[in-house]
Amino acid sequence: MADQQQVPPGAGSTAAGAARGAAGGAAVAAPVLEVTDLSASYGPVRALDGVSLRAEAGRITAVLGANGAGKTTLLRTISGLVRSTGGRVHLMGEDITRAPVEAMVQKGMAHVPEGRGVIAELTVEENLRVGALFRGKVGREEFDRVYDLFPRIAERRDNHAHTLSGGERQMLVIGRALLARPRLLLLDEPSLGLAPRIVAQIFGLLRQLVDEEGLSVLLVEQNARSALSVADIGVVLNLGRVVVTDSARTLMADEELRHAYLGF
Ligand SMILES: Nc1ncnc2c1ncn2[C@@H]1O[C@H](COP(=O)(O)OP(=O)(O)OP(=O)(O)O)[C@@H](O)[C@H]1O
Ligand SMILES: [Mg+2]
Repeated sequence: MADQQQVPPGAGSTAAGAARGAAGGAAVAAPVLEVTDLSASYGPVRALDGVSLRAEAGRITAVLGANGAGKTTLLRTISGLVRSTGGRVHLMGEDITRAPVEAMVQKGMAHVPEGRGVIAELTVEENLRVGALFRGKVGREEFDRVYDLFPRIAERRDNHAHTLSGGERQMLVIGRALLARPRLLLLDEPSLGLAPRIVAQIFGLLRQLVDEEGLSVLLVEQNARSALSVADIGVVLNLGRVVVTDSARTLMADEELRHAYLGF
């Protein structure tokens, strides 16, 4: 599998402290996101079964698990696209469990769904503008910041989005989400189908945004090795339940767990 890439140093460096927070030990600031006993079903299929987790400020929290573990459902339920059947979601201390999607965006949550949906007929720049739509006037410097983060996107700014490669599309949808000025970014399988060096580049940038700007990321990945190499905390899901939450470093070192749930 193409999951051998290196992610920049510094990844996971704050894992131990954050893990204590995630485990409910030492006192830490209120989490940016707190999910408590969340459940969701598709008809008779119970896709989420009492999931609890947190995303702390300035941390990357990776949600890992095999096909069908419930990772996408978790993100869709957090952002209100799937209606929960039980449990609560708090964003910066505020209950957003039944809040409309626009309200969540305004409160600082941005969701980059599976499949990197760009608007094919629009140019790269026009796609970016969509991310800033609800914010009224957005300064040129915010677009330039996205272009600085993703020089490949800058080069393609006047091209139609349908001409972009998979990696460029992923960069575009992340850039578009950043234009909503999120505190919390939910990312669903950004590495899927991308070359290892592109994955490393994207994950390295996420790390930079988290370390330098205090962004929080909830990163859903089947590619557990890459995700754990950039994340602070890992949450392993299986059949809609949390199997374990621990520092990325500890999970990476747990051979039995890796074999049983993470596929490496
Ligand atoms: N729209 C849907 N209708 C019915 N069942 C669904 C639907 N979406 C997901 N499921 C089921 O819910 C469970 C969790 O699926 P989900 O897509 O959340 O998993 P996942 O961890 O994201 O998997 P993958 O790694 O393949 O993306 C699976 O059993 C799946 O078949
Ligand atoms: Mg999924």
